Amino acid sequence: MKSKPARSVLYLPASNARAIEKARTLACDVAILDLEDAVAPEAKIEARAAAVAAVRSGGFGPRLGVRINALDTEWGSDDLAALSDTPIDLIVAPKVEDADTVRAHSSQIPSGTALWAMVETPRALFALNDIAASGGPLEALMLGTNDLATMLRTGPSPDREPLKPWLALTVAMARAHGLMAIDGVFNRFADSEAFAAECAQGRLYGFDGKSLIHPSQIDGANAAFAPTEAEITNARAIVAAFNAPDAVGRGAIQIEGQMVERLHLAAAERVLAQATTNP
Ligand code: COA
Ligand code: MG
Repeated sequence: MKSKPARSVLYLPASNARAIEKARTLACDVAILDLEDAVAPEAKIEARAAAVAAVRSGGFGPRLGVRINALDTEWGSDDLAALSDTPIDLIVAPKVEDADTVRAHSSQIPSGTALWAMVETPRALFALNDIAASGGPLEALMLGTNDLATMLRTGPSPDREPLKPWLALTVAMARAHGLMAIDGVFNRFADSEAFAAECAQGRLYGFDGKSLIHPSQIDGANAAFAPTEAEITNARAIVAAFNAPDAVGRGAIQIEGQMVERLHLAAAERVLAQATTNP
């Protein structure tokens, strides 16, 4: 199971020098310099050079990624080639629709670099098992809800009603193949209340973290995707109960009137590990 902190995954256009400077000091778990949707065609080449320069000069608190252009565009292969001998932590592949595309990225990224595949087209939804099974450096499935909603032609909905099957599918595929699942962005960054609700929804579906577009969203995502005090207390109680002498040899026990099985012990240990990594 691949798992690194990815509660807050902040995109920024690689063409925005001010945002790159700022990202070095932000408290997001991951920062992604975007070469794709956030960069206009006429700025692509300059943005690529800026991304490579930023990766080489380093100094980022967050893990650093670059989202390249799709390999079937005029920029994708050169984006990937430009990053091939840099110490980039992860590369995000947009609009992945089949396992061959994952393998094409995997064979060209620097060794030690992780690959995140974006799920953001209808075709991806029906190839997801093959995509997620690609192995190699593939570390996460990242839902691209803006593209997906546009291509599906869904209407606006406060709780993402039309996207719910695809939220669940993405998490299920990630779990089936030991990958992380990252939820899509929330565009109305000035609406912190609605953002918190969407983070809570993503957490409920099982996502490990959320894609972000603005620094003001970082704290909310870090809080939403970390274990709560109540979850930590509960996890400690489960671990303690299974460690007690009368639990030896038993698969199921009770804690204050609730049945707890050994599968809950594994989940409790994961919560406690997460609480240590993301204090
Ligand atoms: N990463 C890092 N810094 C960011 C940022 C981001 N994603 N978005 C804004 N900032 C910085 C701004 O540079 C500004 O810094 P300063 O005040 O120190 O100069 C500060 O945060 C406040 O920004 P604000 O004025 O509120 O927003 P803006 O008008 O500069 O930018 C957006 C608004 C939406 C254009 C910008 O947030 C953005 O480009 N987001 C990411 C878009 C993207 O990458 N999309 C692709 C994936 S969907
Ligand atoms: Mg997109």
